[in-house]
Amino acid sequence: MFIILFEAVLVLFFHNSHGYFIPTGSVGIGYNGYFTLTNTTKHTHGQAFDSKPVTFTNSSTNITTSFSINFFFAIVPEHDQQGSHGMAFVISPTRGLPGASSDQYLGIFNETTNGKASNNVIAIELDINKDEELGDIDDNHVGVNINGMRSVVSASAGYYDDKDGKFRNLSLISRNVMRLSIVYSQPDKQLNVTLFPANISVPPRKPLLSLSKDLSPYLLEEEMYLGFTASTGSVGAIHYMTGWFITGEIKFPRLEFGMLPILPPYPKKSSQRTKTILAVCLTVSVIAAFIASWFGFVFYLRHKKVKEVLEEWEIQYGPHRFAYKELFDATKGFKEKQLLGRGGFGQVYKGTLPGSDAEIAVKRTSHDSRQGMSEFLAEISTIGRLRHPNLVRLLGYCRHKEDLYLVYDFMPNGSLDKYLYYRNNENQERLTWEQRFKIIKNVAAALLYLHQEWVQVIIHRDIKPANVLIDHEMNARLGDFGLAKLYDQGFDPETSKVAGTLGYIAPEFLRTGRATTSTDVYAFGLVMLEVVCGRRLIERRAGEEQEVLVDWILELWEKGDDILVAVEDNIRQEENRGQLELVLKLGVLCSHQAASIRPAMSAVMRILSGVSELPDNLLDVVRDENLRGWPEKPMELLFDVNSLGTSTYTDSLVSHGR
Ligand SMILES: *[C@@H]1O[C@H](CO)[C@@H](O)[C@H](O)[C@H]1NC(C)=O
Ligand SMILES: *[C@@H]1O[C@H](CO)[C@@H](O)[C@H](O)[C@H]1NC(C)=O
Ligand SMILES: *[C@@H]1O[C@H](CO)[C@@H](O)[C@H](O)[C@H]1NC(C)=O
Ligand SMILES: *[C@@H]1O[C@H](CO)[C@@H](O)[C@H](O)[C@H]1NC(C)=O
Ligand SMILES: *[C@@H]1O[C@H](CO)[C@@H](O)[C@H](O)[C@H]1NC(C)=O
Ligand SMILES: *[C@@H]1O[C@H](CO)[C@@H](O)[C@H](O)[C@H]1NC(C)=O
Ligand SMILES: *[C@@H]1O[C@H](CO)[C@@H](O)[C@H](O)[C@H]1NC(C)=O
Repeated sequence: MFIILFEAVLVLFFHNSHGYFIPTGSVGIGYNGYFTLTNTTKHTHGQAFDSKPVTFTNSSTNITTSFSINFFFAIVPEHDQQGSHGMAFVISPTRGLPGASSDQYLGIFNETTNGKASNNVIAIELDINKDEELGDIDDNHVGVNINGMRSVVSASAGYYDDKDGKFRNLSLISRNVMRLSIVYSQPDKQLNVTLFPANISVPPRKPLLSLSKDLSPYLLEEEMYLGFTASTGSVGAIHYMTGWFITGEIKFPRLEFGMLPILPPYPKKSSQRTKTILAVCLTVSVIAAFIASWFGFVFYLRHKKVKEVLEEWEIQYGPHRFAYKELFDATKGFKEKQLLGRGGFGQVYKGTLPGSDAEIAVKRTSHDSRQGMSEFLAEISTIGRLRHPNLVRLLGYCRHKEDLYLVYDFMPNGSLDKYLYYRNNENQERLTWEQRFKIIKNVAAALLYLHQEWVQVIIHRDIKPANVLIDHEMNARLGDFGLAKLYDQGFDPETSKVAGTLGYIAPEFLRTGRATTSTDVYAFGLVMLEVVCGRRLIERRAGEEQEVLVDWILELWEKGDDILVAVEDNIRQEENRGQLELVLKLGVLCSHQAASIRPAMSAVMRILSGVSELPDNLLDVVRDENLRGWPEKPMELLFDVNSLGTSTYTDSLVSHGR
């Protein structure tokens, strides 16, 4: 149950944040994949700005819009009773605030910029330190700051309960997830800010803060950027930002967080932890000496064991850790009957978690397999943090003896390949065009998330129908991240050994061994063609001109024949013609030999959802002999972001909720 609710919020998060976050300073990824704006470093700050600008004011009429911004956050302090410095939501004319300072400046301003009218920066601060010189009211308050750190208006953290209208205190450093709702009404020229616990799904009626001020003078720039900042001082805190929702109108959206996460405590320095463990052991031995030596000894051993198995990354990021017994019971002792298949690097078993009906898929991989521990660790740390409705979710893991176990959501309808290559099994139900088109869009959404919406670029490296799983509602989810590697956005991926599935490997990858987002797009293009044509990429039994699917389609297209000839019989219907042609042509474009011709996933997504169209001269581009190989033309020729994206006001600010 919580799983669905939990995803609901993230759907909102990803589909409404129209760009991705650009992290600077101490920004990182923490528990459950949430953004951490600060880390354990003292006197540091972090900023995460949305990559795409927002336009608040129509430049020809100078009319500013109303807007609503909701976000979830939590602060994990180093010391329970003492705050660090706090965090803020900012609206700025620049993407990022260079030169900002930590401590009381919260990563927004510095000594010189503080208070300057030229800043044009609006910030809503969640301040956990009382700075007398900045006029702070206490060490637990919410404030609206314009151009400087001295709040225009502020109030102690809390909310007015709708039930009785009474004020209830909240502690910003409670480690609980809270929500901040910011509503600006242009007709009233009024900014309302409401803070409340995340388990209340609709904002309380009475706001915590209300500022009557025309904000339009600060929002004049055509491109304004939204971001989050936080800082630490001599005392640390981890500031989490766990999801946001923006819209260009007055709105009090119902947002269910589902099961609220219990955030891990502030990480202790390892030396400190060793000290703690030593202290525990020492205490235990002393007690043991006094009471009963054998009892103490057992206790000591147990502590030692726990310490051995828990590693740093497991403590910090670890998804749920299952007990071996749970998995053993769930899979009825890893019986052959429960075996779903062998793939990647191990066997996959079906199971049912004891005490619930939750069905799971358990992937077992033994240590002596050629891909061992390092792949396991890579897979865990990668997928453990990802959350997207079109990705197969990693529920947890377990280590037992030499075996490693990964626990995933069970996908009752198996993988996509069995629906496509039905020729081997005439009883196999065939998918309708609507189902297929949805599957294509689902996979595209998952890839877009991995490539462009996550804080780091993730390259899947093994996209093929067998790795696309179908859930009970016939939604597609991308799975098997065994080969995925994390790259920092903007950096060149390092060269690594060639891996993947033959046929889906892009030509330049074979030459250079370098995976890029473009090599994923290549494989995705081929998958699209397979979904439409219901056959394998290469089919020996087909006539010679039909053997290689993509060549066949391209040939039909070049000759001016009907390319729908290649489409699977039972979906080849006139009413589907538009979409079928679109997907076929897009598939050919994505699987183009020259990486520079392939569009980015954001462009693919816009075309699939009908926001953008395929270029008119597509066939010329696709068949240009010079482009079949290299040299590569720059991608902007075809897919200039600006020419394809209609970055009108509504497109950029108003939500595209599902
Ligand atoms: C914390 O962030 C700072 C940048 O502000 C970085 O230099 C440092 O390495 C980070 N520390 C950890 C433990 O990640
Ligand atoms: C700005 O306002 C003018 C006049 O009302 C309108 O025609 C135009 O579409 C608006 N521009 C945007 C980007 O909304
Ligand atoms: C809009 O505001 C700018 C800056 O204040 C001003 O220069 C311009 O004349 C205004 N335009 C209109 C149509 O009012
Ligand atoms: C403050 O920030 C400004 C703008 O980025 C920068 O030019 C200046 O050097 C900074 N001043 C200090 C004292 O850091
Ligand atoms: C709420 O906080 C204020 C100021 O910190 C304090 O005076 C008041 O007693 C608190 N109220 C409750 C109900 O805890
Ligand atoms: C803002 O709060 C005031 C009360 O403080 C209320 O009268 C007004 O309707 C609120 N505005 C919006 C847009 O909710
Ligand atoms: C929200 O959680 C708090 C405890 O964290 C609890 O006291 C409160 O009753 C919950 N409220 C709702 C509406 O569930």
